[in-house]
Amino acid sequence: MSPIRREEIIGDCRLILGDCLEVLPLLGGGIDAVVTDPPYGLGKRMQGGTWGAKDEFSGFLQWDLEARQEWIDAILGLKVPTIIWGANYFDVPPARCWLLWNKINSVPTMADAEMAWTNFDKPAKRFDAPVGRVDFGHPTSKPLPLIQWCLSFVPSARLVLDPFFGSGTTAVACAKAGKAFVGTEINETYFDAACERIRKAYDQPDMFITPERPPDPKQEALL
Ligand SMILES: C[S@@+](CC[C@H](N)C(=O)[O-])C[C@H]1O[C@@H](n2cnc3c(N)ncnc32)[C@H](O)[C@@H]1O
Repeated sequence: MSPIRREEIIGDCRLILGDCLEVLPLLGGGIDAVVTDPPYGLGKRMQGGTWGAKDEFSGFLQWDLEARQEWIDAILGLKVPTIIWGANYFDVPPARCWLLWNKINSVPTMADAEMAWTNFDKPAKRFDAPVGRVDFGHPTSKPLPLIQWCLSFVPSARLVLDPFFGSGTTAVACAKAGKAFVGTEINETYFDAACERIRKAYDQPDMFITPERPPDPKQEALL
C-alpha cells in the first residue's frame, strides 16, 4: 500500500495525508527550505495538564505523546535552510540563530515563549505575538504572522516543506508569500481542515491583504 493515503493540490500547495517518515523519501528534490512544528511530546503535560480535561483536545493527547528524533534526523538530512519549532525537545546541532516566539498573552499554565532551531548563521531573533485562538480545527495551530515571519528568513526559497502541517498554517503563509508548498499530515481530520482553510485562503479576493478572519473576542478572552 502506498504511504500516500491521499493527496490534494490546491493552488501551489501539495498536501499529502501520510506519515512524514514514509512520504519524505518519495518527494524527490526541489525543496528549498523547511519550516515546521512537530509534536513536542508534551501530551498530558501541556498547559500543566489542564488541556487533557477538555473534550475537544482528547485527540491531541494521542499525537503529542512522543517526539521522535528520527523526524528531526530526516529533516536535517535534507540539508536546506530549516526552521524547527519545539526543537528544544530534540537533539539538534549547536545553533547561533534560535528564533523565539514571545507569547504576549500567555497564561500561568502556558509557556511564555517557544523556541525554533535554525541552521542560519545570523543573530537570534524574537517575535512578539499573541497565542492564536484554538482554531482551524487544530489545538496547536501556530499564529499565521509568526509563520509569515519565519518565511522572511528564507526569501529566495521557492518550494517550502512542512512535514507536520496540522491546520496548514505554513501552507497559507507560503500561498500569501507567493511560494509553493509541500507537506504531510498524518491525521485525516486535521488534513481535511487544512485543505478547507487553504482553499478559503486562495478564494480570498486579495489573499495578500485580507486577514483570514475577524478576531473572535469570546475565544480570545479564554486565553
Ligand atoms: C504541532 S502540530 C502542527 C501544527 C501546525 N504548525 C499548525 O499551525 O496547525 C504537529 C502535527 O504533526 C502531526 N503528526 C504527528 N506525527 C506525524 C507524522 N509521523 N507524520 C506527519 N504528521 C504527523 C500531528 O497530527 C499534528 O497535527
